[in-house]
Amino acid sequence: MTDKDNVQRNQARSAPPLSDVPPDVAATVKGHQVLERNVTLLGAIALVVVAIGGIVEIAPLFWIDNTIEEVEGMRPYTPLEQAGRDIYVREGCYTCHSQMIRPFRDEVERYGHYSLAAESMYDHPFQWGSKRTGPDLARVGGRYSDEWHVQHLENPQSVVPQSIMPQYGFLSETSLRVPDPEGMLKALRIVGVPYTDTDLANAEADLIAQADPDVPAGDLEERYPGAQVRDFDGDPTRVTEMDALVAYLQMLGTLVDVNSAAAQEELASETGR
Ligand code: HEC
Repeated sequence: MTDKDNVQRNQARSAPPLSDVPPDVAATVKGHQVLERNVTLLGAIALVVVAIGGIVEIAPLFWIDNTIEEVEGMRPYTPLEQAGRDIYVREGCYTCHSQMIRPFRDEVERYGHYSLAAESMYDHPFQWGSKRTGPDLARVGGRYSDEWHVQHLENPQSVVPQSIMPQYGFLSETSLRVPDPEGMLKALRIVGVPYTDTDLANAEADLIAQADPDVPAGDLEERYPGAQVRDFDGDPTRVTEMDALVAYLQMLGTLVDVNSAAAQEELASETGR
C-alpha cells in the first residue's frame, strides 16, 4: 500500500465525506479549507480577530478619566529618598522583600492597610516584588527608629538572631554619590512624575539638605510635604548611602493617610466610579 492510499483511508475514517454532510455545513467547511490552506490569508484574518479582542480590552481605557484613583498625600519622592530607592534596587532588596500588602486579613493584620495603586504611582520601576523571604516593606516607615534600621542593615543578626538577611555595613562607610541629581529627577519627569522646575533646580541642594543637619533645608518640606529632614545614619559629618536608604525606608507607607483614602474609596463605590 502506498502512502497516498494510507492517507486516503485515514481521511475516510476520521471524517465523513463532504457529500454526507448537509450542504450548508459543507459550504462552511469548504470556506474554512481556503483559510487553512493559505498561510498568508490565515495570518491576516487571525490578526484582524486578535486586533478586535485587543481593542475591546484597551479602548475603554481611553474613555475613563483615570485608571489610578489619586489619593491625598502622595507626592514624588525627594531626591534623597529617590537615591535611597536606587540603592534599594541596586542591592537587590526586592529579591527578598515585597512592597505590596494584599487585601487579605492575615496581611492587613500583620503589615497594615492594604496597598493602594496610587502609593506606587511614582515608582519607576515599581517594587511590588514577587518574593517574600523577608517581610513586606510597603509600610515599614516609622515602625522602627533610625538607629534600629542602621544597626539592622549593618548586622541584621544583632537584632534578629535567626535572620538570614545579608549585612550592608558598607553603606555607612560609603559617601552618597549621585552624579546628576537634576538629571535623575528630569528622567523621572519624562515618564510622568510631576517634579516642578524648582524641584529640578534644587535637586542637588535638596539631596544634601535632607540628611545634613548643618545645611538649611529651605522650602524642601513645603515642596515635599511630609519629608523627614534629619541625620539618618548617626553620622552628622557626612551624607552616606545609609542616610539615603534609611530616609527611603522611613518614608515607605507614610505619605498617604489610608483612612482618608478609605473614605474616598467608599465615596467612589457609592457614586459608581
Ligand atoms: C536574602 C534575603 C534578604 C535580602 C537580600 C534583604 N533582606 Fe531584609 N530581611 C530579610 C529577612 C529574612 C528579614 C526578617 C528578619 C530580620 O528582621 O532580619 C528581613 C527584614 C528586613 C527589615 C525589617 C522588616 C520588618 O518589618 O521587621 C527591613 C527594614 C529590611 N529587611 C530591609 C532590607 C533592605 C533595605 C535590603 C536591601 C539593602 C534587604 N532588606 C535585603 C531578608 C532579606
